[in-house]
Amino acid sequence: MTRVLSGIQPTGDVHLGNYLGALRQWAIGQHDSDAFYCAVDLHAVTVRQDPAELRAATLGTMATLISVGLDPEVCTLFVQSHVPQHTELSWLLECTVSLGELRRMTQFKDKAARAEGRAEGSDQGGDHVSAGLFTYPALMAADILIYDADRVPVGDDQRQHLELTRDVAQRFNSRYGEVFVVPEAAIPTVGARVMDLQNPQSKMSKSAESPQGTVGIFEDRADIARKFARAVTDSESEVRYDPDAKPGVSNLLSILGAATGRSPADAAAGYRQYGTLKSDTAEAVIAMLEPIAAKKAELDADPAELSRIIAAGADKAAAVAGGTLARAKDAMGFLPK
Ligand code: TRP
Repeated sequence: MTRVLSGIQPTGDVHLGNYLGALRQWAIGQHDSDAFYCAVDLHAVTVRQDPAELRAATLGTMATLISVGLDPEVCTLFVQSHVPQHTELSWLLECTVSLGELRRMTQFKDKAARAEGRAEGSDQGGDHVSAGLFTYPALMAADILIYDADRVPVGDDQRQHLELTRDVAQRFNSRYGEVFVVPEAAIPTVGARVMDLQNPQSKMSKSAESPQGTVGIFEDRADIARKFARAVTDSESEVRYDPDAKPGVSNLLSILGAATGRSPADAAAGYRQYGTLKSDTAEAVIAMLEPIAAKKAELDADPAELSRIIAAGADKAAAVAGGTLARAKDAMGFLPK
């Protein structure tokens, strides 16, 4: 069976873009793959985190993964820092990747520029850029390679990190023998891209300028309805799917389509007004999210059960990770204990 691995940052609440663009696909795919999903808390600390917030966000992310339908009996759900083999392999890979390769990573360049206040339009700056932010891709490569993952579902913004992971795996294999599986990126198709409701030219994001454009999956129905009612459209009145000319309306149609199992173009049928399109989209989203919120409430009410699931996931993951790490260390010439 195809081995799949992906990670999600435990920062901020999961929104509709994360759900429709990634998590829902993860849940659908879990039955015909051998899937591993983790909350990447070690990646989160490449920028400064409040300890209590990190702990709560990691727990919340694990509860969210289960609430969206990932079944701990079917796939392996775990917290990255619970499997210490990731950081050990990461060191070995840091010694395989070059400075030049890491320097070319656009995510590092963007994040470093923003932190230092060099980004365009930046009004802040002077934040320190951690060494971990620079070596982040080596840890991500370790996350993937340690599970012999064949396929890695990620957003388009992670494409370059996946390419680097493949290069590192190939280099390691050619130096030390066939140790790692060379993984493929699985980038979702355009249809699943959810845009910001206030600024439909950009992707819905946790760090959007205005929270009005982002819909959290656990928001209450009145807030969700209000956000859709105020979604930015355009000055025409025709409902048609045309992302270039009508980004706002097209985004509503993508969301409505995704929530009701239709293509965006099909979802447009019968609409004459933006108002009804907005309220129907809100209704469809609320109905889609209802069972997810119910499951989350159930988990929140039983913290012992959630802890048990998280501990079992770490054991399952470590059993696989330990084997791969031992193979890599042996190939590199580390003396067995
Ligand atoms: N870097 C990814 C992101 O920001 C998160 C991530 C960490 C990840 N490790 C991973 C994704 C391994 C896929 C596989 O979205």
